[in-house]
Amino acid sequence: MLIRVLSDIHGNLAALKAVLADPAGAEADSTVCLGDTVGYGSHPGDCINIVRKVCDEVVAGNHDQGAAGLVGISHFNTDGQKAMEWTREQITLNHIEWINSLPLHTFYYGISLSHASVKSPSSWIYILKSPEAIDAVLAAGDYPSIYGHTHISMQWKRCGDCSDKPTGLFADYSLINCGSVGQPRDGDPRAAYLLLNTEERTFRHVRVKYDVYGAADAIKKAGLPDNLARRLFLGK
Ligand SMILES: [Fe+2]
Repeated sequence: MLIRVLSDIHGNLAALKAVLADPAGAEADSTVCLGDTVGYGSHPGDCINIVRKVCDEVVAGNHDQGAAGLVGISHFNTDGQKAMEWTREQITLNHIEWINSLPLHTFYYGISLSHASVKSPSSWIYILKSPEAIDAVLAAGDYPSIYGHTHISMQWKRCGDCSDKPTGLFADYSLINCGSVGQPRDGDPRAAYLLLNTEERTFRHVRVKYDVYGAADAIKKAGLPDNLARRLFLGK
């Protein structure tokens, strides 16, 4: 089974459409989303509508829960808070009910899915260093664990060593960050997603060019902070 993994779309409709149209993922049997469909970007409602339609499994991210009022937003930076207040005005009650229905963690075909660390999904722990990675590996047990939240495509060995190679085996890297569709932060502005082959037990990171200028322009036209548009060009 080939699973296409999306995460951290953040209301970037142009990036989401480009990823879904990418030929490398066209043969996927299934699509899942690891949360943060909204926040920062200019099309939160449209992105939710598409994710609901195309994804077979979805877990909630902190920005989703912030938009639905399930968590406070005081821990977001200033731009994130402004964008979240704006996002709350754009989405509908139906969108909020859908967000309320999403789990923070689930298993899908023997793979652990969460937005932040599986060790404590509601704590929104960022896995950026070995100790957090080892904690997550231990919490996932023998299951490969896929996560998002940091917006950086990478993977971790059980010992805590990391790699940003585009391909690999579950046997070597059991903790994998799928990267961000709508706001990559690894210095590469292209949209990121992940392909998992559950028979071959392999993964592949994929990058896709999209209309960054259009996405940035839409952010400015929506009256969202300029920095949220600028960072798209930098992949930061
Ligand atoms: Fe995010």
